[in-house]
Amino acid sequence: MSSKKKKTDAEVAQATVEVNPELDVEELEGIGKVTGAKLKEKGYYTIRDVAFASVKELAEIIGNEERAAQIIEAARKMLGLHSFISALEVYERRKKIRRISTGVRSLDELLGGGIETRAVTEIVGEFGSGKTQLCHQLAVMVQLPEERGGLGAKAIYIDTENTFRPERIMQIARARGADPDQALHNIFYARAYSSDHQMILVEQAKQIIKQHNVALLVVDSVIAHFRSEFPGRENLAERQQKLNKHVADLLRLADAYDVAVVITNQVMAQPDVFFGNPLRPAGGNILAHGATYRIWLRKSKENIRIAKIFDSPYHPEGEVSFRITEEGLVD
Ligand code: GTP
Ligand code: MG
Repeated sequence: MSSKKKKTDAEVAQATVEVNPELDVEELEGIGKVTGAKLKEKGYYTIRDVAFASVKELAEIIGNEERAAQIIEAARKMLGLHSFISALEVYERRKKIRRISTGVRSLDELLGGGIETRAVTEIVGEFGSGKTQLCHQLAVMVQLPEERGGLGAKAIYIDTENTFRPERIMQIARARGADPDQALHNIFYARAYSSDHQMILVEQAKQIIKQHNVALLVVDSVIAHFRSEFPGRENLAERQQKLNKHVADLLRLADAYDVAVVITNQVMAQPDVFFGNPLRPAGGNILAHGATYRIWLRKSKENIRIAKIFDSPYHPEGEVSFRITEEGLVD
């Protein structure tokens, strides 16, 4: 009797894991043509998109919170995403995380092997500290074969400050023994003109990821538009709410599509600090809680930069230094 039951459970588990996450949302029980069309209009095309959605955002689309919760639950069940899993499963999932080398050995060591997929890595630092340079370098590194630190994959680059330079990509590619034209070909680029546009581009990025082998999404900078569009204390709540959604979208994208998301953030002066570091990352708690890993870059002499990982329970507190050269970032 009990052995028979076990077998049935196993069969059920097997059946749930084998569902293709890319199946059309309309394949979900209880979703008809009308609801399906509404969801697709807002960018939820597949069962996977729905499984990683929040009740609130789906409720806004279909106009019913209870129904939204049911749909999400159904999607999660179909994909075998239950609310509790065993620690062994956590371990198995962690093993699937892939890493992209930064091209700087000491920084890779600090990061435990490089930038992780299924995570949001935030690069913080003052102007000229090398945030954009590191993003350029990663957009090349991700393309290299695994034995050279990459994932043999493509990159998406969302540029909010118009600081992306294809010439720099070509330079770094050449230095890494990659074909410069091919390196450019493998980067999907978009300039974001406002915070709204930036958020729409993340939706569009999902479509590219579904069609191409993309393992890196860069947003440089994640916060510039938000800061300029919502100035002052009176707009802070609205800004943080919007930023919260944006960062949550990025985290879900990273997790759902096994992509490394890299965002850059500015620092701002804290007028009330007399001891210690008077600078802190912009974006407040939203970014502090949203980003999985945070790297702080600091200027040193000439072309030397210092990197450290902060706010991380998993990483050593150490600092490493690297140089910004014609070849890109080097030890
Ligand atoms: P903001 O976006 O202004 O906040 O700064 P950032 O942190 O993005 O700085 P960025 O990555 O743009 O770093 C700028 C530094 O990189 C400059 O100090 C330059 O010296 C260096 N740099 C940029 N391009 C090149 C290049 O082609 N060759 C070399 N050797 N250095 C470069
Ligand atoms: Mg920059």
